[in-house]
Amino acid sequence: MKSDTIYIYNIKSLVGIQPEGRINLKGAEMAVLNTIEDAFLLIKDGLIADFGPMTTNKYNDLLNQSDVIAINVKGKMVMPCYCDSHTHLVYAASREGEFVDRINGLTYEEIALRGGGILNSSKHLANVSEDELYESASLRLKEIALSGTGAVEIKSGYGLSLESELKMLRVIKRLKQDSKLTIKATFLGAHAVLTEYKQDKSGYIKLITDNMMPKIAEENLADYCDVFCENNYFTKAETIHILECGKKNGMIPKVHAEQLSHTGGIEAGVECGAISVDHLEYANETDLELLKYSKTAATILPGAAYFLGLPSPPARKLIDAGAIVAIASDYNPGSSPSGNMNTMMSIACIQYRLNPEEVFNASTLNGAYAMGVEKELGCITKGKKANVFITKEIPSYAYLPYSFGSNLVETVILNGEIIAY
Ligand code: NIG
Ligand code: FE
Repeated sequence: MKSDTIYIYNIKSLVGIQPEGRINLKGAEMAVLNTIEDAFLLIKDGLIADFGPMTTNKYNDLLNQSDVIAINVKGKMVMPCYCDSHTHLVYAASREGEFVDRINGLTYEEIALRGGGILNSSKHLANVSEDELYESASLRLKEIALSGTGAVEIKSGYGLSLESELKMLRVIKRLKQDSKLTIKATFLGAHAVLTEYKQDKSGYIKLITDNMMPKIAEENLADYCDVFCENNYFTKAETIHILECGKKNGMIPKVHAEQLSHTGGIEAGVECGAISVDHLEYANETDLELLKYSKTAATILPGAAYFLGLPSPPARKLIDAGAIVAIASDYNPGSSPSGNMNTMMSIACIQYRLNPEEVFNASTLNGAYAMGVEKELGCITKGKKANVFITKEIPSYAYLPYSFGSNLVETVILNGEIIAY
């Protein structure tokens, strides 16, 4: 539904308000979620034009104008849409067989060493057309939009050959153009070593830096470059080398860091000026010190840690140290087959003992920062893009992470347009 003006009124609680110019939140700031009770929100030309308490009666005349969509949301809340800064939602096939293997005792690493895991996804991806990939990813975008996500970062990394990586990135480019969500693309050629290069990792790295990167830059297919810095994947030195080459090709670094062991991914990321380092289950005290003084966001991925039964990342310590903590879903077929940000917030509250305020801020403004859209999205601020959702009738905002598994998002507005799928 399109209209140049949307007036949302009688809002029980308008959540996530920030002053202009605020780009992220750290430490104690994360525990504050600014709200206005009994509020209105005015959207014009896709942007947040005004908001405030109903008592001002400022826009009462809009209720009778035929060209204005006026929505009475008594009992319901309005929040900025989630910004999911880490996903792999372009993929060819699910991997529930590995899920069952893990239930029966195998580890993620053991499955990967047998040719499962990322290489399993890569085999499937090689046999699927660009159009098929586009269709399945579009459905996942719809699914996450309906659960409140308005911006999403999507990685390649299930291609691993020049041809298949380009196929994935071209799909992401098409999604960027067609979708109502705001999308950022990340090149993750260094997600695993292609089977043909098993005995020649340096050859594979050369393929990434000398063949894939120039072509990707030429077609302008990636905003970011990512590396899976991990035992049996890429070392710290290799990560730095790949990220530096990415920078020369116009891609800003990101790192999959310290997920399964401590491998130096955080140090590599901070050293290269990464926009974010992600996962962090095995981050140590030195890493905490580094992130405390860094502009690099510390992104935790509760879905992956939960699904793989990994130790919890030191989320509480990261916030207390003053790092810029973001939450993302890691939506992918192997380690987090869910893109539901409400579920991610629930896990972070329950297992990491973060407060509802902290998980909302981590999933909205800090998520926006971790994917480079903090100037346009992530909070209720005049002039920002109107990406907001209206909840069902709920007693308080803490009710969202509390009701894990329920979808309490009733209406989603992206760029000032009410979306209905
Ligand atoms: O973020 N850790 C590496 N990559 C992805 C998922 C890999 C997979 O498909 O299993 C992750 O967990
Ligand atoms: Fe990931």
